[in-house]
Amino acid sequence: MGISARFIQFTDLHLCASPEARLKDVNTDASFSAVVAAALSAARPDALLLTGDLTQDGSAEAYERLAGRLIPHALPAWCIPGNHDQPDALRAGLAGPLFRHDRLADFGPWRLLFLNTHDGDRGGGRLGDTELAAVREVLAEPGPEHVLIVLHHHPVRIGSWLDDSAALDDADAFWDAVGESPRLRGALFGHVHQEVDTRRGAVRVLGTPSTCFQFVPATMEPGLDSRPPGWRWIELFDDGRIETGVSWLPEPARRETA
Ligand SMILES: [Fe+2]
Repeated sequence: MGISARFIQFTDLHLCASPEARLKDVNTDASFSAVVAAALSAARPDALLLTGDLTQDGSAEAYERLAGRLIPHALPAWCIPGNHDQPDALRAGLAGPLFRHDRLADFGPWRLLFLNTHDGDRGGGRLGDTELAAVREVLAEPGPEHVLIVLHHHPVRIGSWLDDSAALDDADAFWDAVGESPRLRGALFGHVHQEVDTRRGAVRVLGTPSTCFQFVPATMEPGLDSRPPGWRWIELFDDGRIETGVSWLPEPARRETA
């Protein structure tokens, strides 16, 4: 069976108004640039998926710099906000034909459904009635056979402190909306700053490292990990299969402090 589409996901860029800004001892601007250079020299995807926390401060400067960084690659980029983003500023700064803010994107027998979990100025997220209705609608109505849902917050518990303090409040309602639909093949997210590749029933559940700093995986103790910046490549096949993996920069972005 052939490939329907190839994507690269960049997530949790945490760009700031100043390109010199450092978060957790990482220059997020330089780190993102290094990730883009590495990811796009190795592959030419059909599109980019930008899954939230694109900026740390919601500033127009950061969104405009992000746009300027990506436009030369001439790839369509689907964009959703994370908890750190300001959705209006995100849409304003990522404007023009390459940047997509649509709810749906179709690639052959695949439909991507983009959900907004931004819920004001807090770490947690919420889908709410409108997004949940979109899940039910897309899975019930006629359309491409296979569905991949893309959102910022993690819709499953991952055994991290993020499950308690920065979770998706209505994750249970999300899975209720999904129901027993055989069409949902995967749920792809950011937010967790670590790699997740698990399943909920038949649904592949995929989380992706940040383009800057990572959190230590599989512990309820908050902590920074020494893993380098990363990104995810995704291949969707005509028969509904998902091939995917995480790639990392060769060097950590964070200076280890003694
Ligand atoms: Fe986040």
